[in-house]
Amino acid sequence: MAAGLALALLAATGYLLLADRSGPPAPQDAPSGRAGTAAPNAMLLFTLHCASCHQTSGEGVPAMFPPLAGSEWVTGDERMLANILLHGVEGEMSVKGVRYKGTMPAFWRLSDAELAAVATYARASWSNRAPPVSAELFATERARAARDKPFAGEAELRRVFARAR
Ligand code: HEC
Repeated sequence: MAAGLALALLAATGYLLLADRSGPPAPQDAPSGRAGTAAPNAMLLFTLHCASCHQTSGEGVPAMFPPLAGSEWVTGDERMLANILLHGVEGEMSVKGVRYKGTMPAFWRLSDAELAAVATYARASWSNRAPPVSAELFATERARAARDKPFAGEAELRRVFARAR
């Protein structure tokens, strides 16, 4: 039953995404918090790809899935955020002072525009008020290094980006 629903959702999303490929994603959710200005795709992408673990509230699940609401990884260095989404993370990671050791899947199969939309959504939702990120960010980070493994926790992310700065 759940699988059927998921399939129906996927199909519906496919149509929506195809129908909306005319241009770059609109900047999401200005911090003014006005309703109805966010492009619908971003929320849909989040619901489909992220909410099962991080929850629609962005609060995650204690001891399993870290929060995105109030997370320094979401609102901080956008290159690290892009790489977390593109390649995933597997290992220890601390978020808002709490340690997690789980598996964040890689989302390189999503397009640069889709990744930018979902990242921008997370940066401007809940209590988060960080500026949007662009599809170009994802194009650049995708091209940075051929990589077929998730980052080995926060330690490797920090090592790579300390060097790249
Ligand atoms: C299968 C569960 C799962 C899904 C689906 C998932 N994540 Fe994660 N995510 C995790 C886990 C677990 C971690 C922590 C990884 C670790 O402990 O090494 C994480 C970490 C993160 C982080 C860095 C830590 C934080 O909490 O800020 C970000 C940002 C993030 N995920 C964003 C996303 C976004 C955006 C999506 C959807 C495109 C997504 N995740 C989908 C499980 C998931």
